[in-house]
Amino acid sequence: MKKRDNIITVAIDSPAAAGAGTQAKMIAKKYNLFYLDTGKIYRFIGKLKLDNKKRFSYNLIKRKIRDFKLSYLKNKSLLSNEVALSASRIAKDKKIRDIVHKFQQKCAYNPPKKYRGSILDGRDIITIQVKDAMFKFYITASLEVRVKRRYNEYKKLNKKITYMEVYKSLKNRDKSDKNRKYGPLKKTKDSILINTSKLSKKACFKKIKDIMDKKLNN
Ligand code: C5P
Repeated sequence: MKKRDNIITVAIDSPAAAGAGTQAKMIAKKYNLFYLDTGKIYRFIGKLKLDNKKRFSYNLIKRKIRDFKLSYLKNKSLLSNEVALSASRIAKDKKIRDIVHKFQQKCAYNPPKKYRGSILDGRDIITIQVKDAMFKFYITASLEVRVKRRYNEYKKLNKKITYMEVYKSLKNRDKSDKNRKYGPLKKTKDSILINTSKLSKKACFKKIKDIMDKKLNN
């Protein structure tokens, strides 16, 4: 694939609700990077499955990804727990992963010209998708902290869900995302670990920003 020269590439992987998305958005804004939340693409396909139980097929996914518009990712329905679980199930499928990879790598290596580079977050970004990224971060937090954060987010969205349901859902997804055969979530040796359990959004951002500035200003 043709890659745009001299761009900043940032790759982030994290388990669900560790705060990676929030940080990615802040970094994108600060450094004028194109941001892609790759989990939303799996959620989009997970929802496609829930909505098209009978018609769901590789061809349907291919067509939807071919005609894909980034604005689809803003759809609030992608935020539900049912969609997250469906996403985690379909994400085990190698053929489905292969369909979305090209699109993701195009975003990473050929972001729109107005941006200085790209930032992607997900589960297989530092390991596979953008493994030569200029910056690689593995963002995590304890399960308890992540459950609390996600539960509060659902409350704000007025979703009817109990704390235990959120706990079970995140635990299941962690297990499935870390143990699957294709694109499992794991920390690489060359990535920087950021544990957000006891860090505020601001403190976490400062940590990342300091690391990036040090390299960029050299
Ligand atoms: O990040 P988010 O919680 O939105 O991701 C939903 C699901 O999509 C994850 O649980 C994971 O199974 C899948 N995913 C993936 N690879 C990525 C991003 C997300 O398999 N790069």
